[in-house]
Amino acid sequence: MTNSETKATLSFSDGSPSLEMPIYKGSIGPDVIDIRKLYGSTGMFTYDPGFMSTAACNSSITYIDGDKGELLYRGYPIEQLAVNGGDFLETCYLLLNGELPNAAEKANFVSTVTRHTMVHEQMQFFFRGFRRDAHPMSVLVGTVGALASFYHDSLDINDEHHREVSAIRLIAKMPTLVAMAYKYSIGQPFVYPRNDLSYSANFMHMMFSTPCEEYKVNEVLVRALDRILILHADHEQNASTSTVRLAGSSGANPFACIAAGIACLWGPAHGGANEAALSMLEEIGSVDNIPEFIAQVKDKNSGVKLMGFGHRVYKNYDPRAKLMRETCYEVLNELGLQDDPLFKLAMELERIALEDEYFVSRKLYPNVDFYSGIVQRALGIPTALFTGIFALARTVGWISQWKEMISDPEQKIGRPRQLFVGSPRRDVPPMDKR
Ligand code: SDX
Repeated sequence: MTNSETKATLSFSDGSPSLEMPIYKGSIGPDVIDIRKLYGSTGMFTYDPGFMSTAACNSSITYIDGDKGELLYRGYPIEQLAVNGGDFLETCYLLLNGELPNAAEKANFVSTVTRHTMVHEQMQFFFRGFRRDAHPMSVLVGTVGALASFYHDSLDINDEHHREVSAIRLIAKMPTLVAMAYKYSIGQPFVYPRNDLSYSANFMHMMFSTPCEEYKVNEVLVRALDRILILHADHEQNASTSTVRLAGSSGANPFACIAAGIACLWGPAHGGANEAALSMLEEIGSVDNIPEFIAQVKDKNSGVKLMGFGHRVYKNYDPRAKLMRETCYEVLNELGLQDDPLFKLAMELERIALEDEYFVSRKLYPNVDFYSGIVQRALGIPTALFTGIFALARTVGWISQWKEMISDPEQKIGRPRQLFVGSPRRDVPPMDKR
C-alpha cells in the first residue's frame, strides 16, 4: 500500500472547515480514501449500507476485476489454476502461504493435511442430536463450531503455530464433517478417511462408499470435484469472508469464526444460491416455460430472481461460471448424461437472459452458482448439500483471510456505527399513561 500524491478534500457548502484525507494506492485495482479521521474531525460518519463503496481492509490474497470478469488468487488467474494448474491442495497452499508449492513443499503439505482428516471420535455423538432431515448447513454450523471443544491446544490466536495448526485442521476436517452430515442424513454409517487417496478422492469415498462393497473412484469425477473446490476457494471480501474477519477481530477462536462464515454463506443471496438455482431450474421444468419465468423475474412485485445470476462485483461474466459450465459438460459426458434436460434448460435460459435488455442493462451475468448445482447433482451430491460443498471449498479462503487479518498490525475489533433515526430521549410513562 503506497501513499498517493493526490489527496482527497472534503468541503462543506455551509462553510464548515474542509478536511483533507490521504489516498492510498494498492498494487492493482481502485485506490482508497483513508477516512479514519473523518468522525474525529467532523463529528460525522460515512453512510454505506451493504459496503458498496467501502474497503474494510487491505489484503494480498484475492483480486477481482468485476468489469473485466477477472479473478486472481495471489496473482494467478483462476482459469490457469483450475484448468492446467495443480489440484485443490496446491491452491490451498497458495492461498495460505502466498506462493505455489514446489514438489517437496506440496508433498509435505499433502501429508500434513492427510494426517488431520480424522475428527475426534466423540464428534459422532453431536450428529445424534440432529434430526436426520436437518439441513446440512445447520449441522455444519454446529459441528465446526464444536471442533473448538476438542482442540484447546491450538486456540491461542496470537501464537503463529496455533494459527497454522488450526488452519490445517479446518481444511483437513471439513470434507470429513460434510461427508458425515450426508451419511447421517441417509442413515448410512460414517466412513473414515483413507490416507492413500487424494483430498477430493477421499471426500468422494467418504460420501459414497459403504462397508458392503468396494468403492471405485472415478478420476474424471474426482478431477471435476477438485476443480469445483478450486473455483470456490476464495473471493475477496464477500459476505461470509467479512463475517469471518469480523468474528475474528474480537479474538474469537478460528473454529468459531469459520462456523460464523458457514452460517452467513447459507443465505440464498450468497452461497445458498446454488441450491436455489437448481430448484429454480426444476421449477421452470422445460424450455417452453422460460418466457413466462423471465416475465415473472422482470415483475418487481413477484419477488422472483434469476438465481445464479448477478453479482455485486462482477458486471461481466463471472470467470468461474464459464469454467463451471465446461466442468458440467465434461461430467455429463463422462456419465453419458450429455442430454441432461436441466443442463440444456440452463444453457437456453442463459442464452435468452443474455439477449434480454432487462439483464443486459443491469449487467446481470451467470455467477459461480448457476451451473454448480447441475454438475454437483450429476456427481451424486444431494441438492441440500451443495452449499456444504461451497463451505468445504471456501474454508481455505476464510482461514487464509482470518490469518492475514490476525497478523495485520492495523487490525482492530470491527465496530461500525450508524445513522440513528429512532426516538430521541424520552421518559418512561407509568402504565396508566401508556
Ligand atoms: C455468491 O460476493 C461474492 O463474491 C459472493 C460469491 C463468492 O464467491 O463469495 O461470488 C458467491 O454469493 C454469488 C451470488 C449468488 N447469489 C445469487 O445468484 C442470488 C441472485 N442474485 C442476486 O440476489 C444479486 O444479484 C446479488 C445479491 C448477487 C447481488 O446483488 P446487488 O449487488 O445488491 O445488486 P442489486 O440487488 O442491487 O441488483 C441490481 C439490479 C436490481 O434491479 P433494479 O433495482 O436496478 O431495477 O439488478 C436486479 C435487482 O433487482 N437483480 C436481479 C438479480 N440480481 C440483481 N434481478 C433478477 N435476478 C437476479 N438474480
